[in-house]
Formats: sequence, C-alpha cells, structure tokens
Amino acid sequence: MDLKLNNKVAIVLAASKGLGKAIALALSAEGAKVIIGARDETELTKTALEIQTLTGNEVIAMPVDVADGNQITNFIRKAADAFGRIDILLNNAGGPPFNKFENFDDDAWQKAFELNLLSVTRASRLVLPHMQKTGGGRIINIISGSVKSVLANSVLSTSMRMGIVGMAKLMADEFGPYNITVNNVAPGMILTDRLKHTLPKDADPEEALKERAKNIPLGRIGKPEELAALVTFLASEQAAYITGTTIQVDGGANRSIF
Ligand SMILES: NC(=O)c1ccc[n+]([C@@H]2O[C@H](COP(=O)([O-])OP(=O)(O)OC[C@H]3O[C@@H](n4cnc5c(N)ncnc54)[C@H](OP(=O)(O)O)[C@@H]3O)[C@@H](O)[C@H]2O)c1
Repeated sequence: MDLKLNNKVAIVLAASKGLGKAIALALSAEGAKVIIGARDETELTKTALEIQTLTGNEVIAMPVDVADGNQITNFIRKAADAFGRIDILLNNAGGPPFNKFENFDDDAWQKAFELNLLSVTRASRLVLPHMQKTGGGRIINIISGSVKSVLANSVLSTSMRMGIVGMAKLMADEFGPYNITVNNVAPGMILTDRLKHTLPKDADPEEALKERAKNIPLGRIGKPEELAALVTFLASEQAAYITGTTIQVDGGANRSIF
C-alpha cells in the first residue's frame, strides 16, 4: 500500500531512541522528510544520520527539551522554515517516574504536567496554523496503555495521559473541518530502554521479560517497529477518516471490553 507520505514533512519529538526513533525511521522509510528532536544532541545527530543512511531520505536533527516552552517554540519555527510546511506532528516525551501516589509531591506533579501534558498542548498549538495553511495534517500523541487499565505506580503518567485523551477528542472536534486529525497511540509493553530500566535490578533481563510477557495474550513484549507501523498508518492519507481515537498496541494485554 502506498501511504502517500512522499514529500510530507513530519516532526517526531523525543526521537533519539526508543519509540520515537522507530517512528521516525518508519515515516522516513515511507518517503517523509523528518525532523527529529530530543535533548542529547550527540545521540540525536547519530540517530538522524543512521535513519538517513537507511532510507535515503532527508532527516534533520534539532535538539529540544519538549518541557521547555521557549525551546519548543523555537524548534517548531525552525522546523517550519526547514521544508516550508509541517504535515505531521508526533508528540512524544520521556515518561514520568513510577511510584506510589503518596510519594509524589507538588514538584513531581508539576514536572509531569510540563513534560507529558503541556508539551503536547504547546507543540500542537504551534503546528496547527501550518497545517491549516496547507489544508490538513495529522497530530499523533504517544500516551500509555495505562489509560485503559490500571498499571500500578503509574499515577503521574496515567493522570497526564488521561488529559491527552480528552484533549485529542476536543481537538478532533475543533480541527476536523480543517482536515486535521488528532489521535493517540497507547503502548502496552514495548521493548525500549525505558522498559528495560523498569526490570528488577537483580534479575536476569531475559527471564524478567519472559515473566512480564506471561500475561500478554500474544505471549511476548512488543517491538518498537510494531507500534511505528500503526503511527505511520495514522499519518497516511488512508487514515483520513480516523480521528479522536486512542488505539492500543499491547499484544492484547488490556482485557477491558470498552
Ligand atoms: N516502551 C513502553 O513500553 C512504553 C509503554 C507505555 C508508555 N510509554 C511511553 O512512551 C514514551 C516513549 O517511551 P520509550 O520507551 O521510547 O522511552 P525511551 O526509550 O527512554 O526514549 C525516550 C526518548 O525521549 C527523549 N526525551 C526524554 N525526555 C525528553 C525531553 N524532555 N525533551 C525531548 N526529548 C526527551 C529521549 O532523549 P533525550 O533523553 O536525549 O532527551 C529519548 O529519545 C514515554 O512517554 C513512555 O512513558 C512507553
């Protein structure tokens, strides 16, 4: 299937590794011109080069801390100047810490808000005029499967992601008339550094992953490229009638019927 992403311009945030990197690679492989952001410039530049070498399509690396309002404003301005348009925005960031509700103070809540909710608001607000100008666009937010079923110790993540679920619905309503779709992708357990860091320190990593996979109907942890495939479809012309949704990529881990 030709996803018609040739010459589309995509911003992929938090993309030096993990899910963001896999998404940037998949979009680039489909012909999109990709601009990637993350904080560590060395790592980011390496990733951009790696993707460009694999796909032959232009990839620009621009360092940014998505939790910083000034940085994200400059980033989007420079990204728009780079290719003269923005068609796709992939909102992503590092995840907030895991712990019990009783262990988070105001400062922890404020940081999670700025990193995982306000960053999505800001970047989306800044790209919308560019999408409206060219007659359409795609905003896709990486959230978490914890919006569908309880994940212990994920109170910061779940609270911020639930805000994004609501925001995407409202944005889908408001920007549908401009052919701008807004959707969320909710990962279950996908093998990235973030997931590896949550394994018990004293356990054998392979055994610990097998243990985690026991409750997943497909019997394994997901691969970043499996999530990237859905994002790439949502970014395509073919997904023009899908908006306001939250779709899980979790191997069936969430048993909830609704
Ligand atoms: N993997 C899973 O199974 C899973 C499940 C549910 C939800 N999620 C969510 O999906 C998102 C991505 O997770 P991942 O597994 O891909 O994580 P990861 O492998 O740790 O990668 C995180 C990426 O985000 C960048 N980043 C972190 N903080 C940033 C900031 N303030 N500004 C810009 N870039 C930033 C990192 O680069 P720098 O450090 O250089 O900035 C890196 O490129 C997270 O929000 C996570 O909570 C993941």
